Amino acid sequence: MTNVARLRARPVRTVEEPDFLRQQVDRYYRERVEETWDGGHIMVGLEPGPGAIRLVSNDYLCMTRHPEIVDAQRAALQDVDDALLMAAVFLHGDNPQSRFERAMAEWMEAEASVLSQSGWAVNTGLIQSIAGPDVPCYIDLFAHASLWEGIRSAGAQAVPFRHNAPEHLEKQLRREGPGVIIVDSVYSTSGSVAPLVDIVEVSERHGCVLVVDEAHSLGTHGPEGRGLVVDLGLTDRVHFRTASLAKAFAGRAGVVACSERIAEYLKYTANPAIFSSGLLPHEIAGLDATLRVIAAADDRRARLHANAAYLREGLSDLGYNLDLCRSQILGLEAGHERSTIRLRDALESRGVFGSVFCAPATPKHRSLIRFTVNSGLSAAELDRILAVCAEIRDEVDLANWPSTRRGGASLKSVAHG
Ligand SMILES: Cc1ncc(COP(=O)(O)O)c(C=O)c1O
Repeated sequence: MTNVARLRARPVRTVEEPDFLRQQVDRYYRERVEETWDGGHIMVGLEPGPGAIRLVSNDYLCMTRHPEIVDAQRAALQDVDDALLMAAVFLHGDNPQSRFERAMAEWMEAEASVLSQSGWAVNTGLIQSIAGPDVPCYIDLFAHASLWEGIRSAGAQAVPFRHNAPEHLEKQLRREGPGVIIVDSVYSTSGSVAPLVDIVEVSERHGCVLVVDEAHSLGTHGPEGRGLVVDLGLTDRVHFRTASLAKAFAGRAGVVACSERIAEYLKYTANPAIFSSGLLPHEIAGLDATLRVIAAADDRRARLHANAAYLREGLSDLGYNLDLCRSQILGLEAGHERSTIRLRDALESRGVFGSVFCAPATPKHRSLIRFTVNSGLSAAELDRILAVCAEIRDEVDLANWPSTRRGGASLKSVAHG
């Protein structure tokens, strides 16, 4: 018997849960699993079979397994013999991470950039470092959960404003005074795009600090994929641009672009840089190669945006309400979770797979299936998606979805993407 088999053969006894924990977990099984999902699970549907169309990955430009990137990672795994497992705060002098940070900053047209373990880590570490109990944080109601978590980590006061509503932001600012304004450039559940020029103007009028999360626009938008802020010529008016590098970069990291002075400050202040291990050499080598590939990927960007526009228009013509959507993210908002399960099943049984978004990523009654478009989808696949969405309209009761009835009205409630 091998050691592993011997270990497995040992009887497993679980530790008894105290009441407070049992009740909390019981509530999940009762309210979510039994009462809402009828004993199933909203996130778990069919396994995609051969030929299935998967609209679930954030690898917008199909970078996974790109030969240049794989070669760079393989070479680093084989060649680097001093892979230190430690927090970034211990990194000094010239090293692969600081060289990549300089390349990233140059590409993003910023003075400096700081790498982090993930988009979550970069957002929580940044807000925790720049806000505090006396700093109001104005945040779009649809902004990503990591940005809300950053506000909590800072012990700051969150002052939400209505989605993509600079006039409401300004109203809140008049009441509470200057602080940090936090938005996404492209919103991860609705696919809506922030009115960045208007937000910058409000921010400047009130002497605020502006944070823009470019997770869904870095690599996909702007010249050479440099992002929406570069595209709009706003680099010298936005203090911080953050991004997850687990989207178009198809890696595992996050980055913030900012001034040299603040980059230095963040390296020694943000908790993830101090209390969590940094990236490994092969991860940085992969990101470095990805940056070169992405900068030269205009053809892939063009295909991504053409594919997204084709699906957006086709789905809108079929009666799906995509009024908010202006990007490669398409949210089919069935509303109630039972309706979303029905939509999931109708799509999946016909070989089309999207991602389920439900509470806490959306408000409870605004769950949806998200289609994430990529540059590699063929014309035949796009048409198959539309044919399936046409065929299922009655089966999923599209006419009676709250989003369909709402028609052109903009979403006004909380969604934490
Ligand atoms: C807008 C936005 N910001 C941040 C994140 C977190 O990124 P990561 O997955 O790298 O932690 C995500 C990912 O879901 C996102 O959509």
